[in-house]
Amino acid sequence: MRYIIGNWKSNQNLTESLIWLDDMISLVPRLPSDIQVILCLPFTDIASFNEKLAETNYPLSTGAQNVSHLPPGKHTGEITAMMLRELVSFCLVGHSERRRDFGETCEEVAQKAKSLLENSVTPIVCLDQPYLDEQIKTLFQFDVDVKRCFFVYEPFSAIGTGKPVDPVAANHIAHQVDFLIDANVPILYGGSVTADNAPDFVRQNQIDGLLVGTDSLRPSLFAAIINSLQ
Ligand code: PGA
Repeated sequence: MRYIIGNWKSNQNLTESLIWLDDMISLVPRLPSDIQVILCLPFTDIASFNEKLAETNYPLSTGAQNVSHLPPGKHTGEITAMMLRELVSFCLVGHSERRRDFGETCEEVAQKAKSLLENSVTPIVCLDQPYLDEQIKTLFQFDVDVKRCFFVYEPFSAIGTGKPVDPVAANHIAHQVDFLIDANVPILYGGSVTADNAPDFVRQNQIDGLLVGTDSLRPSLFAAIINSLQ
């Protein structure tokens, strides 16, 4: 199985998200059965987007982009894993933009992953150098069941820059993640993925799929990435 995960970040309001889905369905009426497509939306879009998915029977999975590291309780404004469990099957954790802009630590990322798993939501753990080893070590310290997680190598220099890293170098890091995790889990690459470079990444023996930011926003570009892998 291959995986293509869209990450809309802080883009697309509810109206735009429903139009995106209409356009996507008309461009790719049948998603390939050997590719799981997951879309990580803003919290505000998820419930209505899911309703429309159910009405149309479109086999796309939804995910969130973040979750609180805290348990339910007096934490004004936080969205907990307990809330997400009714809405999504996946959730990104530890994206480098959150580390940079909100000071997220390896410990918080591990807490997030743990509480997602306790609520049957699959964490998609984003990794980069120099904290890759420390993040994986911290997951083990917090008893996170890494066998139930997805991992993405997302080099910061490649995110939103139009400058992907060399696929062979990305594969090398994916092997390192595989070695440290020591379980058969999906390991993806993210950073300036386009329909032109997508096949070069998934052709690598340790890369199981892609995390797509910018090119997930336009249905035509996202559809082109899916089609490029067939
Ligand atoms: P990008 O973003 O595809 O725009 O580089 C990837 C990501 O940050 O998830």
